[in-house]
Amino acid sequence: MKFFIDTANLEQIKEAKELGILDGVTTNPSLMAKEGISGTANVERHYRAICEMVDGDISAEVISTDFKGMVEEGKRLAGIAENIVVKVPIIKDGVKALAWFTENGISTNCTLVFSTAQAILAAKAGATYVSPFIGRVDDTNWDGMSLIREMAEVYAIQGFDTEILAASIRNSRHIVQAALNGADVVTCPLSSILGMLNHPLTNIGLEKFLADHKKANEVSSN
Ligand code: G3P
Repeated sequence: MKFFIDTANLEQIKEAKELGILDGVTTNPSLMAKEGISGTANVERHYRAICEMVDGDISAEVISTDFKGMVEEGKRLAGIAENIVVKVPIIKDGVKALAWFTENGISTNCTLVFSTAQAILAAKAGATYVSPFIGRVDDTNWDGMSLIREMAEVYAIQGFDTEILAASIRNSRHIVQAALNGADVVTCPLSSILGMLNHPLTNIGLEKFLADHKKANEVSSN
């Protein structure tokens, strides 16, 4: 399973990269706005900075909602670096744009996916990744994980190559469940990645090991 970080914050990307487990980055217009990045030139400069930091796939989202606009914007974004993946919402013109990007050798991430029906269309259009928003599905009292499972089953039965990228991850348990239900990739906030480390018995065990080591060394130095 691939691990992406879901942020536009360069410090957090650096911290995740230093862990040695980072395969890529996803962003969206809200995450860019959160970092105070606005204006085409600044946005593109920021994507360039992220692409220079991380070798893996970097999702950059289009703002246009019409076919022509999405294609123009996507071509510009794809021109920033080889590892840019153009992120496109699952709307009618988005499907057309996905198919165009596929035909023209540009990698894509189909976003704002909340149903298996949408995921089938994304796969038919040749999307590289499809992003079901797990946390947001859970927020509406549906089960984000059964969505991942159903999508994974359909993709396996039909032999679709599109990778399932579990997004809107809110905690480390989501990551485990996404893995269990067949996600190929998880994109997570840094807090959820670091949350995977937490277990009280690890802390208790480590304290005991260090205390025993200290005691033994105090005895031997006397
Ligand atoms: O990857 C999509 C993600 O950024 C949305 O997460 O927590 O806003 O639902 P959230």
